[in-house]
Amino acid sequence: MDYPVIAKPKLEEIKVRPNLDQYDDLVKKFSWQELRKELDGLPGGGLNLAHEAIDRHARGPRADRVAMYWEGTGSEEERYTFAQMKELTDKFANVLKGLGVEKGDRVFLFMGRIPELYVAFFSILKVGAIAGPLFSAFGPDPVKDRLLDSVAKVLIVTPDLRNRISDILKDLPDLKHVIVVNKDNRSQEPLAQGDISYEKEMAAASPDFQIVPTTEEDFSIMHYTSGTTGKPKGAVHAHLAALQHMATGRWALDLHDDDIYWCTADPGWVTGTSYGMSAPWTNGVSQVIYEGGFRASAWYQIIQKYGVTVWYTAPTAIRMLMKAGDHVPKRYDLSSLRYMCSVGEPLNPEAIVWGLRALDLAFHDNWWQTETGAILIANYPIQEIRPGSMGRPIPGIKAAIIDEAGSEVKPGEEGDLAIRPGWPSMFRTYWHNQEMYDSKFKNGWYVTGDRAHMDEDGYFWFVGRSDDVINTAGHLVGPFEVESALIEHPAVAEAGVIGKPDPVAFEVVKAFVSLHDGYEPTDKLRNDIMGFVRRKLAAGVAPREIEFIDSLPKTRSGKIMRRLLKARELGLPEGDTSTLEED
Ligand code: PRX
Repeated sequence: MDYPVIAKPKLEEIKVRPNLDQYDDLVKKFSWQELRKELDGLPGGGLNLAHEAIDRHARGPRADRVAMYWEGTGSEEERYTFAQMKELTDKFANVLKGLGVEKGDRVFLFMGRIPELYVAFFSILKVGAIAGPLFSAFGPDPVKDRLLDSVAKVLIVTPDLRNRISDILKDLPDLKHVIVVNKDNRSQEPLAQGDISYEKEMAAASPDFQIVPTTEEDFSIMHYTSGTTGKPKGAVHAHLAALQHMATGRWALDLHDDDIYWCTADPGWVTGTSYGMSAPWTNGVSQVIYEGGFRASAWYQIIQKYGVTVWYTAPTAIRMLMKAGDHVPKRYDLSSLRYMCSVGEPLNPEAIVWGLRALDLAFHDNWWQTETGAILIANYPIQEIRPGSMGRPIPGIKAAIIDEAGSEVKPGEEGDLAIRPGWPSMFRTYWHNQEMYDSKFKNGWYVTGDRAHMDEDGYFWFVGRSDDVINTAGHLVGPFEVESALIEHPAVAEAGVIGKPDPVAFEVVKAFVSLHDGYEPTDKLRNDIMGFVRRKLAAGVAPREIEFIDSLPKTRSGKIMRRLLKARELGLPEGDTSTLEED
């Protein structure tokens, strides 16, 4: 089915920054240096994201503007102005400093979406340390891998998650402090020996703090991301990323001064930091943080209650809203909404058509990655939307489709999506893995790992991944991590993991497993293995399906051929099998 292009709106019909209708002109004369002047900079020189996102507003006319409207799972409500955020982050920065946290130290966050997470995040930046957010659904294994690899010094955690991972702490000799945030005394349990109480420290902390001077190239945030092989790698970002968060907040999310913005991404992943913290607040915009998970009625209720105007969400969530039915949004007053965006997985055209029908607005898809740090390709408010396309590069970005040799291909031809390096929010390295970082570049391009094509007008269209990384509900999962967890189960001899297409989650994790002698492939064993991996990793990362097979297809060198497992699963031709193991 062909989907009609959604015509670009008339300028007077939409509240848009005037320069966005002159995209071609802007792209030609754009300079990051010029835009850089809009950042404030630290009083004594240098750049720090916490200053750009909080302190500069707390010292100016937006001091009493609400930065964060928070709604808890029990419908608790809290709100924090920029001035209050400054005071809280100054206090907690003093706590961190008092504990000996220094510039460049890694401090990790493992908690749900509570205000203290946001306070802690910016306090870490204020002391010049590197913030490492962790997805709150993780089990002990992913947390341990990340804390070990980064040689983390401090972990800030809530009591429930502290309990979940208590067994791994003895294996982390470099972790000096565990700070426990017991919001509203939700836990009655006493603190474990040696743990530090966030509340107690905050009650005694001084609100006077001067940000430790950082330069625009000093490291600010690290996010672990999965590849085809090996453990996840820590993509490290610099304070200069603030510039691109600010710019794309305006261009791609159309943020205006009086907006109420809601980003549904979890702060344990990059969208939740770049667009759930930095982009709105570097623009001084108020945002809503909702602690709860997905429920269609609860989400519409949030939009209605807070008068959300700009909404940034993901295709899986949109497809779940579609499933809940068109009648659900009709029960709410959603008239405040004026702009909607989506990221993380391919946004199918049906979802855009549904948005127009059920919410009276189109979703604007955009594209980026953990490594790119910020949006690079987007559908803009003032351009036509080509349903199914990720849009066009932002000003300052040269994106292209390249072939094996690293040369640009003609419009319409499929190839590797590549970006000319040098944008402000680009990752600076993979932590202690420069070799892997260097391997991402070819012939002067950063090669993204995505396959795509570009049309004559410069719109990019996603085709798929060029590697075995699985994208389930917008979360990247490395098959190797899941296979490693599976083979730790006593019954499992070998495991091969693929992404199986799914109508809601885009892909789900599917495992093929062979058993040791003496084990029977029963449903009970299947459930036992699933539960085992879920406890180790996380519910969303553990296989949704496990299929028992006698033996896995392997190359002569013993590598499991996931490509072949996937082809068989999809009923596709199996391609070249000449290197297959002969049984
Ligand atoms: O494969 C692309 C997919 O998600 C990957 C990036 O995932 P991650 O590093 O977790 O970053 C999350 C921040 C967006 C990409 O390499 N992806 C992202 N956006 C889109 C997408 N696939 C299709 N369409 C998109 N708009």
